[in-house]
Amino acid sequence: MAMEILRTIEATRAVSRRIKAENRRLALVPTMGALHEGHLSLVRRARERAEVVAASVFVNPLQFGPSEDFARYPRPFEGDCSLLEAQGAAFVFAPAPEEMYPCRSASGARPPQGAEPVGAAGTAVPESTFVEVAGLSDKLEGRSRPGHFRGVTTVVSKLLHIVEPDLACFGQKDAQQAVIVRRMVRDLNLPVEIVVCPIVRETDGLAMSSRNAYLDPAHRRAATVLYRALMRVQELSRAGERNGSRLAEAGRQVVREEPLAQLDYLEVVHPETLDPIEDIASGTLVVVAAALGKTRLIDNLVLEL
Ligand code: PAJ
Repeated sequence: MAMEILRTIEATRAVSRRIKAENRRLALVPTMGALHEGHLSLVRRARERAEVVAASVFVNPLQFGPSEDFARYPRPFEGDCSLLEAQGAAFVFAPAPEEMYPCRSASGARPPQGAEPVGAAGTAVPESTFVEVAGLSDKLEGRSRPGHFRGVTTVVSKLLHIVEPDLACFGQKDAQQAVIVRRMVRDLNLPVEIVVCPIVRETDGLAMSSRNAYLDPAHRRAATVLYRALMRVQELSRAGERNGSRLAEAGRQVVREEPLAQLDYLEVVHPETLDPIEDIASGTLVVVAAALGKTRLIDNLVLEL
């Protein structure tokens, strides 16, 4: 059956409810498009776990900071649809920004002063309701990207309410996002199972990302430094180093030695609290973020001792 492309919330709800009325399990893979093997691995996992798989393709303005890449984020929508269809997705929910955030265009009005959250490119997105996972959202990525996770949790909760899937698949690539989404689902008792899938990498170790397309050849070569730093931490931990601070410092040193990379953070943290830990254990998370020229990349590794 041909894959359906749904642009409205109403049509999506109707399809989802029909599927559930037929007692079929529905999985959702939320994405911002520009799909690569990482995304497709989520669709495949979703297919293993549910009879019907839906994807969403929506570049969410709410999770981009004013100086971030919302406007230039790649949007190869037709190619994305072919890939999703080839993986057996039954439908894709691809709303226009006005469908998800109607206040902005419907009224044309600005919200009361002081209530203007910053959306893409500094424009006001006059929504009144947000979902925010306090604490976890301010750490690591949240420190460098204020408001980012509020944008993510708000749109993910909207997507979950619109599609009402039995399960939703996320990538370990965005480790903090996965932790925060799990926490949101638990705290708000959302009736959905969150499945987190492993990071898919290029052959040289670089984690696949839609943003890798921004890299020129020199920065692309240098970009493997994130993975090399993670591997260094892994190696030292396996050789017996158990001190989180020393491991983190050794990882940072690897990134500092790459002249084309600008380290943002490299931390050895608890996989649920995301706080730095001194005595590592199996399951400890190593997270890294660095800029390669104008392109900011993230990666992470779960330590296995
Ligand atoms: P996006 O960056 O498009 O990623 C969609 C999903 O694909 C996320 O769960 C992400 O972790 C996963 N993913 C990306 N690269 C991956 C890789 N190399 N291996 C495995 N999984 C990978 O993350 C978002 O979109 C947005 O924040 C979203 C959740 C859709 C909310 O807007």
